[in-house]
Formats: sequence, structure tokens, C-alpha cells
Amino acid sequence: MNQTDRHNIRLVVTGGAGFIGSNLLKYLLPLYRNYLFVNIDCLTYAGNLTNLENREKEENYIFEKIDIRDFNSLKSCFDKYDINAVIHLAAESHVDRSILGPEVFIDTNIKGTFNLLELARMKGPGFRFHHVSTDEVYGSRDEGYFSEAAAYNPSSPYAASKASADHLVRAYYHTYGLDTVISNCTNNFGPYQFPEKLIPLVIRNALKNEPIPIYGDGRNIRSWLFVEDHCRALDMIFHRGKPGATYNIPGSAELSNIEVVRRVCRIMDHIMSDGHREDLIVFVGDRPGHDRRYALDGAGIKSELGWRAGHTFDQALERTVRWYLENQQWLEECMTGEYMSYYERNYTGRRK
Ligand code: NAD
Ligand code: TYD
Repeated sequence: MNQTDRHNIRLVVTGGAGFIGSNLLKYLLPLYRNYLFVNIDCLTYAGNLTNLENREKEENYIFEKIDIRDFNSLKSCFDKYDINAVIHLAAESHVDRSILGPEVFIDTNIKGTFNLLELARMKGPGFRFHHVSTDEVYGSRDEGYFSEAAAYNPSSPYAASKASADHLVRAYYHTYGLDTVISNCTNNFGPYQFPEKLIPLVIRNALKNEPIPIYGDGRNIRSWLFVEDHCRALDMIFHRGKPGATYNIPGSAELSNIEVVRRVCRIMDHIMSDGHREDLIVFVGDRPGHDRRYALDGAGIKSELGWRAGHTFDQALERTVRWYLENQQWLEECMTGEYMSYYERNYTGRRK
């Protein structure tokens, strides 16, 4: 009996070697033993198979190293496993990189999504397509919350590329009747997040006794969600979300960047019983087009699917800090030449 005969659901998870994708696969694999999970990832600087902690041994899991910009390779893979569902996470995901070099964001986030939609359309009725998107598509607002019906107003090339992908997904629902669902989530944090993003970058720099850079006045506000809560929401939305629907996934705490950084420093001071890491904070030149505040109204996912964040911010932050302290080798292995040259480009000249 071959793989496709044994499994009713043959689900591609794109970006499964990245931060959220690897957490999602580790969450789903034991829950759905009768599915076949095909992890499609081309392993950019942000993709790392060690994030999956030996799941390659699971009999319901397969890894395929494929670039989603390469339609023909994607098609061969979809045909090989007779794929009938996608949870699409593969993306260039960092705003600062999109400012330094937007082109790859257009290619991967828009053209890559288009390739996957085309394949889903070719497979015909019964194909489920879940696009994992971001709160950044709505842009910034000083007060109040964005509902799923809010107009899109993206500020960065990253946000604009994700917004474009969302629009394409909706067009495939309306035009071709593809069974789509979109989720827009707030800022995630947790184990295996690449140290270009705020929380792991602060932990890494604090560990190395290096300056902790805060853009602008540090009062930009983000809503934070522990990655496991996001994974639980994705499971619910993929399985129970209405065709054509969009679900916002709100955070469990809304905090200014300076407050987040101070809390990380305090947790590290407490665990390591030495130093005063807040002294490492330096205010640096602002990110161009820096959104002031992201804020999502999550009434839809709460009332329709019964989802709630299961972790408080502070508990999950402490767990995250402890994970990075225990996995310093993983952190160091991220510090490749590619990452360091990005780091230089992003932070040089930013000093106020
Ligand atoms: P990440 O950067 O950690 O991982 C992205 C993964 O995609 C990597 O494994 C990378 O190798 C892979 N990838 C990139 N380009 C590819 C390509 N052309 N072909 C195949 N694979 C490719 O990102 P993340 O933080 O895990 O985010 C995952 C998804 O969730 C993204 O779509 C992002 O927009 C969305 N999202 C992230 C957050 C967040 O806070 N991190 C919040 C909301 C939504
Ligand atoms: P980031 O983790 O890049 O996520 P996003 O841009 O998707 O929200 O940044 C979170 C916030 O932290 C954002 O307001 C920018 C800010 N920030 C800093 O102040 N310093 C840094 O070194 C980084 C990476 C981010």
C-alpha cells in the first residue's frame, strides 16, 4: 500500500522548518496520525530542520526541499502525494529585511502563493487551502481594533506582499470556488524564533552583553501571542473555519516595545542572578514607515470556534527565555555569515 492510499488527508505544510511551521508540525503530527504531512521548505536562512526535533522518524511525516517559487517542482510533489490540503506558512517574514531588499518578498510571498493556489485549483473540488497571514496587512491604528472586515492598509513591503497574497486567496475563493480560509495573527514569540525578531534578538544580545537596540522612542505597541496558542488556533481554523472566511487571531497582551524589552531583561536578571541587563538598552534610529500599533478584534474566532489564548504573556515569556538559555548552541548556529551581514546592514548607521 502506498502513502496516498493510507491517508485520507494529504496535507502540505509550507515553511515547516521555520519558527511557526515547525511548532505547528510538532503540534499536529501526534494529533492526526492518519494524515500525511508533507513539509515543503527550501531552507532559507530562517529554515532549520533541527527545529523539528527528529520528527523525520514519524511515519506520517515527509520533508521535501522545494522552493515555492518553482512551480514545476511543486507540481511534481503535489502529484506524487496526491495532495488535497495546504496550510501555507512559507514566506519571507521579516519587515526590516523587506525594507533592505523587497524583491524576494514579492517573489516568495506573492508568486509563491500564486503557484500554490494554481495547483490547488488544478486539483479541483474538495481541496482545502489555509493561508497563514498577519495583522500587519491592516496597517497601524492608535486606538480601537481591526475586525476582519477592516480595509487593508499595509505599510512595509513585507505587509504589502502578505496583503497581496490574501487578496489572491480571496479571489480564488470567489472566482473558482476554492475552499479557502485565511488567518491573520498578531506578533508571535516562543522557542525556535529566529533571532532577527525582537524577543530572541534581545535575549541573544543580553546573553552576549551587547547593546539591545530599540527603534525610535520604544513606544510602538505590539500585541503578543505565544506560538503554541497560534498553533492551536491554526488547527481549529484549518478544520472548522468556514470556506471563504477570514479569522483574526489576537494576542494575549498589548505592550510597548520598551516594556517587552524590560520584561525580558528582568527575567534574565532573575534567572541568572547577575547584572542589570536594562543598562544594555540603546535607542537607535527608527524603522522607516514603522507602524505605531497593531491591534486585532478577535471576537470571530472566540465566538465561532471557541478559541482563547491559553498562556499569559509573562508565563510564556519566562518559558521562552528559559528555552533560549538552554539552547544557546541553536542560537549561535543562527549567527552565520548571511545573518551577520544582514545584522551589519540593518544596524550600522542606526545609532542616534
Ligand atoms: P520564518 O521566517 O521563521 O520561517 C519561514 C519559513 O519559510 C522558513 O523555514 C523558510 O525556509 C521558508 N521559506 C521561505 N521562503 C521560501 C520559499 N521560497 N520556498 C519554500 N520555503 C520558503 O517565519 P515565521 O515567523 O515562522 O512565519 C510563518 C508564517 O506566519 C509567515 O507566512 C508569516 O507571514 C506568518 N506570520 C508570522 C508571525 C510572526 O510573528 N512570526 C505573525 C503572523 C503571521
Ligand atoms: P519584529 O520582531 O521585527 O516584528 P514586527 O515588525 O513584525 O512587529 O519587531 C517588533 C517590534 O520591535 C517592532 O515595533 C520593531 C521593534 N524592534 C526594535 O525596536 N528593535 C529591534 O532590533 C527589532 C528587531 C525590532
